[in-house]
Amino acid sequence: MAKRGATYICQNCGAVYNRWQGKCDSCGEWNTIAEENAAAPPLPGRPARKGRVFALEPLTGETLDAPRLPAGIAELDRVTGGGFVKGSVLLLGGDPGIGKSTLLIQTAAALANAGHRAIYISGEEAVAQVRLRAERLGLAAAPVELASETSVEDIVATLRTGAQPRLVIIDSIQTMWTDGIDSAPGTVTQVRGSAQALIRYAKQSGAAVILVGHVTKDGQIAGPRVVEHMVDAVMSFEGEGSHQFRILRAVKNRFGPTDEIGVFEMTGGGLRQVLNPSELFLSERDLGSPGTVVFAGIEGTRPLLVEMQALVAPSSLGTPRRAVVGWDQSRLSMVLAVLEAHCGVKLGGYDVYLNVAGGLRIQEPAADLAAAAALVSSLVHASLPPDAVYFGEISLSGAVRPVAQTPARLKEAAKLGFARAVMPEMPRGDGAADSGLTVDAVPALTSLVADIAARGRPARGETRPVRQDG
Ligand SMILES: Nc1ncnc2c1ncn2[C@@H]1O[C@H](COP(=O)(O)OP(=O)(O)OP(=O)(O)O)[C@@H](O)[C@H]1O
Ligand SMILES: [Mg+2]
Repeated sequence: MAKRGATYICQNCGAVYNRWQGKCDSCGEWNTIAEENAAAPPLPGRPARKGRVFALEPLTGETLDAPRLPAGIAELDRVTGGGFVKGSVLLLGGDPGIGKSTLLIQTAAALANAGHRAIYISGEEAVAQVRLRAERLGLAAAPVELASETSVEDIVATLRTGAQPRLVIIDSIQTMWTDGIDSAPGTVTQVRGSAQALIRYAKQSGAAVILVGHVTKDGQIAGPRVVEHMVDAVMSFEGEGSHQFRILRAVKNRFGPTDEIGVFEMTGGGLRQVLNPSELFLSERDLGSPGTVVFAGIEGTRPLLVEMQALVAPSSLGTPRRAVVGWDQSRLSMVLAVLEAHCGVKLGGYDVYLNVAGGLRIQEPAADLAAAAALVSSLVHASLPPDAVYFGEISLSGAVRPVAQTPARLKEAAKLGFARAVMPEMPRGDGAADSGLTVDAVPALTSLVADIAARGRPARGETRPVRQDG
């Protein structure tokens, strides 16, 4: 009889091998494959279990009252879609030290103060350490129940006693282990097994469970991707090390939107909500210097004004650099190609840097026009009008296309004291007029480039890089 071999599982992506190897063929990581025991085989001679018959229910059943539990933290509720859904499991990922435990203890305290039973179980910190943090945040009086535990069986048994909790926080899933599986905590099978047990508990009891997940160096939640499929929502908590603010983003959400963001600021007293993020992303602005532009964007349903900066400088390299922070590299390449092909802007000999201020990451194509304006402005040393916002999508033909939610963008710009909007031509009757802004409609990128170039002066000794004909 062939000997039943152990399985080797990549701890990064979950790929399974039947012998050890140094590099995972599936994700390309080195030294991530570890031996794990597969699930026990069925006992020989035991007949397969006969299935149990269960009742099927109609779709038009009675729904439970108030299936959502708002945390009372507006920025968090916006991202979850209006609160935690009963019996749902949420996975929160984020870099080490970004503030996951801080956010969750604040959430637990908010719910506990509102009279709901909230339990915080830490597998990483001792109870005294969690208390210390709560004291620093001024939450020591909140009736949150704490424990420092790592055994999933013990945790589930404890949770089943007493009144049913409304919120259970498990910090973190990588430290949990379950008896049924014979491998170390943090390994793929343990993470999967523990997550399964906690999800089963959530569905049976109706409590909302939040699992904290560690992330790998490239920002993925560590452990098997399959945990992301098992849970109802995946959120990531992001931020730049040098900046104070943090962004909560939904990566997946079975019960709400995935395009909303929540903005927080990390202070000595904990995470503070930022209810008007535009002010935050514009606060460091140095408008009026060449290469700086304000983009009127939308994140989810919320308008957001962000400053973008470009630097276009002569290159000494054979292949000039194209570096972008906070925006899509391939969209930058596309905008550069359109500028070159349709507008006579020669960028072959220049390094190009584009940065979104404050460390925000923009995903909208509507930023094309703002990026193009910043690039041309830096190239010709012409500052853009400091009272104008820019938005619009650029097509490969060089046309500027309308984008969604124009009135909301204009309203936000007007609210923050801007006077002009440089934007695509709108079909007549669109609410642009009642925002109070002067609209500069740009039909094609060529006219924008000509406008900016007309104000600019090339630095001494340089040839004019933008063709100006007619
Ligand atoms: N005394 C303090 N004053 C101001 N900020 C503090 C203070 N102590 C901690 N912080 C902030 O809190 C952050 C740590 O938060 P927290 O422990 O919630 O992070 P975490 O994401 O849970 O980290 P880990 O992955 O290690 O569990 C620190 O990076 C720091 O920014
Ligand atoms: Mg933590």
